[in-house]
Amino acid sequence: MAHTAAKRIVVGVSGGIAAYKACHVVRGFTELGHEVQVIPTENALRFVGKATFEALSHNPVFTSVYEEVDQVRHVQVGQRADLVVIAPATADLLARLAQGRANDMLTSTVLMTGAPVVIAPAMHTEMWNNPATQANVALLRDRGMTVLEPAHGRLTGSDTGPGRLLDPEQIVDLALLVLSTGMLPRTLAGKRVLVSAGGTREAIDPVRFIGNHSSGRQGFAIAEVAAHMGAAVTVVAGATDRLPTPAGATVIAVDSANDMQQVIADEFAKQNIIIMAAAVADVRPKIAAATKLKKGSGTADLQQIDLCENPDILRGLVKRRATGSQPIIVGFAAETGDTAATALEHGRAKLARKGCDWLLVNDVSQDQVFGKPTNAGWLLSAGGEVLELPRDSKFVIARQLLEAVAQQA
Ligand code: C5P
Repeated sequence: MAHTAAKRIVVGVSGGIAAYKACHVVRGFTELGHEVQVIPTENALRFVGKATFEALSHNPVFTSVYEEVDQVRHVQVGQRADLVVIAPATADLLARLAQGRANDMLTSTVLMTGAPVVIAPAMHTEMWNNPATQANVALLRDRGMTVLEPAHGRLTGSDTGPGRLLDPEQIVDLALLVLSTGMLPRTLAGKRVLVSAGGTREAIDPVRFIGNHSSGRQGFAIAEVAAHMGAAVTVVAGATDRLPTPAGATVIAVDSANDMQQVIADEFAKQNIIIMAAAVADVRPKIAAATKLKKGSGTADLQQIDLCENPDILRGLVKRRATGSQPIIVGFAAETGDTAATALEHGRAKLARKGCDWLLVNDVSQDQVFGKPTNAGWLLSAGGEVLELPRDSKFVIARQLLEAVAQQA
């Protein structure tokens, strides 16, 4: 993250089984150097003890405004906070916040604060889908709070669906995004967004492949932010670092450029926006050997692998689309400046060659992008706009890209 200054972060915890994950959220913030004040509800303490939160945050923990009354803590903590993060938020807490209740330390603090509020809900699917909860969520969003989408998956019982708490790592990343750039708008509600991410692997034989250094982090950050801006997200993922699934997204794992092309072709017609953040290998072995190649075994050995060019997926998508229609197509370009041109000039030429609507150009001159949490570059539009993207977290870059593109979707 590109946050250098320590911030004062309140972590509110309400009484659901996911409260144990709040410990990792607290840890995530303190490890980045932020000062954390945990405010659990009474019921949260049925799941995690006060001592755990005090040890992890290095601060005393209070649940009621009637403790140390002389300090008027809810006023003090609420006013001093730079950010309030509530994880997990139960259906009951959402209802109390929507009503503006102030019947414990956490709700009183939220009413007092001028800081951005980020809420990560967790509950059973039926409770999340209940119109009462949905109305409370809509009201809180309307009032400027960022209510994140819950993750989909296995819940405490045998049930699965939306309602799982996001991964602590996702909560920390998204909360810091809101801290530095403000409440997430829901401008992608009702839109379908496909993001390709990671690197392709082109088989040499059953054991070896040609691959690249892509970590998939930028693509996953785009998918994550798009999901919380309201989009229905599909991620077509090649090889990536171990990254949590973006909220509610369908993740389709692929191996080679040909696989990726096939999956995206099948998904194409449903999408409003396609973002090709994947690092697709330019070439592949002409023949993937059926059995493992042996060292120095004559003709079919490892010293001579014939290559052929992979399809350019991005160009194919642009060609397939009827003029002026959807989906909006966004490409990526990792460039380095050289004696012929700067990285930006190379990017401009690539945008013209590929024919996509937007191109995010990364300057990769100094090993600054692959696997790193930050990114920088320029966002170019086919219409000639140039938006400079100063170095920042991949989530901030994702938001800038999505906000620019959402205006046309
Ligand atoms: O030509 P270059 O590889 O620099 O282009 C990068 C952009 O094109 C990225 O958006 C990448 O996902 C896409 N691409 C593709 N198919 C290829 C190579 C790149 O879609 N074979």
